[in-house]
Amino acid sequence: MKMYLAGEWVDREQKIEVRHPFDGLLVDTVPQATRDDVERALAAAVEGARVMAKVTAYDRFLMLRRAADVVLSQKSELGRLISLEEGKTLAEGEFEVTRAATTLEVSAEEAKRLTGEMLPLDAAPGAAGKMGFTLRVPCGVVVAIAPFNFPLNLVCHKVGPALAAGNAVVLKPASNTPLSALKLIEILLAAGVPPLAVQCLTGAGGEIGTALCQDERVRKITFTGSVEVGKKICAVAGLKRVTMELGSNSPLIVLDDADLNKATDSILASGFGNAGQVCISAQRIIALPKVYDELLDRLQPKVEGLTAGDPMHASTRMGPMIRESDAVRVEQWVHEAVAQGARLLTGGSRRGTLHEPTLLADVQPNMRISRDELFGPAVGVTRAASVDDAIRLANDSRYGLSAGLFTQDLDAAMKFARHVECGNVHVNWGPAWRADLMPYGGLKESGLGKEGPKYAIQEMTETKTVVLHLPPD
Ligand code: SIN
Repeated sequence: MKMYLAGEWVDREQKIEVRHPFDGLLVDTVPQATRDDVERALAAAVEGARVMAKVTAYDRFLMLRRAADVVLSQKSELGRLISLEEGKTLAEGEFEVTRAATTLEVSAEEAKRLTGEMLPLDAAPGAAGKMGFTLRVPCGVVVAIAPFNFPLNLVCHKVGPALAAGNAVVLKPASNTPLSALKLIEILLAAGVPPLAVQCLTGAGGEIGTALCQDERVRKITFTGSVEVGKKICAVAGLKRVTMELGSNSPLIVLDDADLNKATDSILASGFGNAGQVCISAQRIIALPKVYDELLDRLQPKVEGLTAGDPMHASTRMGPMIRESDAVRVEQWVHEAVAQGARLLTGGSRRGTLHEPTLLADVQPNMRISRDELFGPAVGVTRAASVDDAIRLANDSRYGLSAGLFTQDLDAAMKFARHVECGNVHVNWGPAWRADLMPYGGLKESGLGKEGPKYAIQEMTETKTVVLHLPPD
């Protein structure tokens, strides 16, 4: 496919190959953008922002609404493309398309709700006759850098709100998964988005990303990815607004009175969806002594029963990882944990990019598989002495994106909700649950700012204060 910038689809001599993570077969190629392309994209985006500032809220609503409908109507084609480039199962790919359509639809609705505020200025001393209100205006040029793991929906979470707010956007999709993002650009243009309002630069990221993020024409950066890259972006960004959706090693606490059936189902969904390559994957299961052994007994056959394999087969429940180096990392961390005393109950091996669904018991907080972000298909179970100890263990992390707790006890649930240091908290489900309309974002090193169209739009608009100095009555 070609990339899209300055109002046209362009190709470059140097290409990046997009390969299916399961078998390495070539899916397509995309151009490797150059520094000159960054310059062209930004100059066009400045013009695009001028155009977008004149598009009414109703027209922004209409274009995003139309795009949402088209995305949904192409559910099976887009879902298949996502599975081909990312490696998730066909069911997961189609579910992502449904979510992407919702994200666009909610963005469309929110375009109609950019309200300001009346200011009671004469409540200030000496401000008789003053009247004020605020206006919400677009930021201008938004740079959106998206990850590989939800190549369509997480792009929609950036591009949808940016356009809803009246901005132009320069998108840099992940180098392994640019194809569904490019399809989305086609859909947005056909839905009426002005040609200069979107740009999509493909290829390897480092140099292009840095050039985009440090450019002074850019007013807002929205990034999803690793903490390390997030920190580099913040270091070069200078005076810009930033939204950072970064990593996590999400905890899931199972208390003595938990519904273990529901808890095990949720660990399966939260720990192994998209082969664990989800920022909010359940990685650290923290269980109280009374349920510890029974939880493991129930969990082990369920994890063993997860069919891992070719994501394009309808019976496959878990696909490969995005790169072999990632599968190697998971394998190494599992082996390291076992060498340090953890018990391997199932899994632990890999074939190429396919790492087996893996369950470890007796994991200690200082083991790498617990301390760092795994981003892979393994969960580790750790014993806690009490509710307080479980919350302490959950908080023993530099991350704070999402957490879950299983209990029937309202007091324990509220204690957890108040004291767990995470941006999203789930009672009686695992951490990897998200409705696309809700505020979503982390505490601590998991990030800055919130996504979810309503909240992203707040971060993609500026507030202007207007004061009327009225004559005395
Ligand atoms: C993420 O992995 O960053 C997002 C997870 C989701 O949207 O479900």
